Amino acid sequence: MAVNKFFKILKSLRLGILVACIVGIVTGILAWYQVQREREIDLEDINRRAHALVYQISFPVREAIARPENETAKVLGSRLEGYGRLIGFAVYQPDGTLIASAQSVSEFAEILNSIVGKVLDTRSEVMEIVRTHSSPVHILAVPVLSDGEVPIGTVVALHDISYVDERVMNRLIHFAFWTLIVTFLIVTLVISATWLAYDRPLRHLAQWMRRLRLENAGDAPPSGLPIALLKSESDRLAASFRAARSAGRTKSRAKVHAERVWTRNRLRAHVIDCLGENCQLIIVSNREPYMHQLNGGRSRIIIPAGGLVTALDPVLKACGGLWVAHGAGDADRENADTSGRLTVPPGDSRYTLRRIWLSREEEQGYYYGFSNEGLWPLCHQAHERPMFRASDWNYYAQTNHHFADAVLEEIGPGKAVVLVHDYHLALLPEILKSSRPDIRVGIFWHVPWPNPEAFRICPWRAEILRGMLGADLIGFHLQQYCNNFLDTVDRMVEARLDWDHFAVELKGHTSLIRPYPISVRSWAERHVASGGDLDLQISELKRQNKLEVVQIAVGVDRIDYTKGMPERFRAIARFLEKYPDHHGKFTFVQLGAPSRTHIRRYREHIAELEALADEINWKFQSAEWKPIRFLVAHHDGPTVYAFMQMASICIVSSLHDGMNLVAKEYVVAQESGDGVLILSEFAGAARELSDAIIINPYDTEHFADAIYHAAEMEAGERKTRMERMRRIVDENNIYRWAANFITDLAATQTLETKTGIMSTENSFPKMH
Ligand code: G6P
Repeated sequence: MAVNKFFKILKSLRLGILVACIVGIVTGILAWYQVQREREIDLEDINRRAHALVYQISFPVREAIARPENETAKVLGSRLEGYGRLIGFAVYQPDGTLIASAQSVSEFAEILNSIVGKVLDTRSEVMEIVRTHSSPVHILAVPVLSDGEVPIGTVVALHDISYVDERVMNRLIHFAFWTLIVTFLIVTLVISATWLAYDRPLRHLAQWMRRLRLENAGDAPPSGLPIALLKSESDRLAASFRAARSAGRTKSRAKVHAERVWTRNRLRAHVIDCLGENCQLIIVSNREPYMHQLNGGRSRIIIPAGGLVTALDPVLKACGGLWVAHGAGDADRENADTSGRLTVPPGDSRYTLRRIWLSREEEQGYYYGFSNEGLWPLCHQAHERPMFRASDWNYYAQTNHHFADAVLEEIGPGKAVVLVHDYHLALLPEILKSSRPDIRVGIFWHVPWPNPEAFRICPWRAEILRGMLGADLIGFHLQQYCNNFLDTVDRMVEARLDWDHFAVELKGHTSLIRPYPISVRSWAERHVASGGDLDLQISELKRQNKLEVVQIAVGVDRIDYTKGMPERFRAIARFLEKYPDHHGKFTFVQLGAPSRTHIRRYREHIAELEALADEINWKFQSAEWKPIRFLVAHHDGPTVYAFMQMASICIVSSLHDGMNLVAKEYVVAQESGDGVLILSEFAGAARELSDAIIINPYDTEHFADAIYHAAEMEAGERKTRMERMRRIVDENNIYRWAANFITDLAATQTLETKTGIMSTENSFPKMH
């Protein structure tokens, strides 16, 4: 325990210890260097002094040596006394015999003999420092020369230099003392500065986050955070907490009002209420809800595959209004008036469709090029590299203007609320608002919004963001996409952001960013077959596809690389490998609608899927059974419904998907509550439909086990899961989605006069 405590203390002081060590080592090295330097100076000093003395003494020595031998020692004796720190002198004859010396020199006799020997050999001076048992001694021996430069003796001076060592020691003690003081001061300074600059703000930040999480505190984040990025991240975190809490509140309110399911009549009444008299409701999208196609020389109507049309057609059918879209069908012109208008659905006119005609180049550049080879892969993390061409961008911008002209023409001088849809028309809100600031414009983004790092590769990122920020309301399926969007705006556009209310102000105009998970309506409203007719249709489809005696799983998709269809096929193969009992008893039917086939990647994808299905079938099939039925065609609503009815499992394995309405359509198709949904965790729908079997489509083993689990699931569990999901989709149907979006958009009008960012979240009540 004590050891642990010790280590704990050591850990908390680690910065201080580190700084102390560094300061200690650095000052220690400096001090050592300094002391050595001073020692050398002292020694040089002694050397100088010894030379001076020897020089001084060499004259009397020379004179004494010249006297008769018995006088030399006597004369020198008196000369060699009394210099400070001088141990003494000694004088030697040229043959090395000592002539005279001071008393105290005698103990060095041996050393001196050897030094004098060196002087005689070299005829030059010798300096040595020798250490005796008592103290260090500096010895200088210099030859004495006659006038004729003949050596007549050697003078040796000995200095006690123990004081040099004493001074070294004193200095070291002195330095050590100051090193300690300086280290202490620096460590104190560093620790205090760290505490003030980091520890304290971080502690406050942690306390504030805790309050935010637990107490719903509304106070601002603590000031004094040193890193701007951290501060902005903390703002975002706060915003996410608030958004999550408000979503939680919304959910619980939704529970309370569960009986208040939205119907088309309720939506119609609400929209009239919300928009007031004489206000047009206009939807604008690239894809039209009804398309006239030539078939054997006759035109027939088809409803294009895709979530956008599935979701929005019921809204306009309920509310009436105008839908502006590209007339892409090859018999579209013949089935519209000269302005491209017609009423739809055919034979049951509920609203007006205004078709826009695009040239082949425009369609290629704007739709296939920039929208579907650029923005589509950019927004989906499906490992397809986006392609950005300047010519496509020009067509994209030009076509957005084209759409704007048609919308403005339709609005005339009147009032309108315009709902712009999806990534094809990102510039439209700004264009519309610059001509008509009084109309309400919302844009709903049907695909995911990537993180800023992914989005930044788009060469026209700022233009796209500015175009969207022309809208009063910007909707996404999920809160996460709202966060990503705001984060992207934060980094790429000079705008004022309000993370608390998810709002952006650009050039005095405010846009709100909100999540609206899109949904579907019930199948009953689509007039699909029921009862005996449905049974007949099902048995006919089963017969055609040899499905009479097998358990059926179904997948319904536009053939798109984001849908994870190869992963699905591979998981089915693995399931059959792992669970051979299911051979001959399980068939997967894939309804695949060809899509965007002018793009090579899409054509190749169809071929790849067909080859894969063939390969798997070839491996497992028997005379009467095929594991995969890949039905490539445009399947109408009743056919899709019939397959969903007969399938006890539906597989949605998108690699990345904004929402995926097939998952919700399957849930609402399960009137008997008996089917099992396998759903990719990367589809937006997985947030709401948590009772599905959630899979990672890239994890084939787990995916195969999920299929087995679904095939073997007990009836009780199937029902419980499906009932819960049905309740969620019923309560949050497409009418509620539209009511929420239109209500919030209309509410921006009431705040129009306010300058700056909206002040309260409550200004935008949600419908329940
Ligand atoms: C996705 C897009 C829609 C699009 C649909 C069908 O759901 O978000 O905007 O309409 O795919 O694609 P398509 O290119 O055929 O319109």
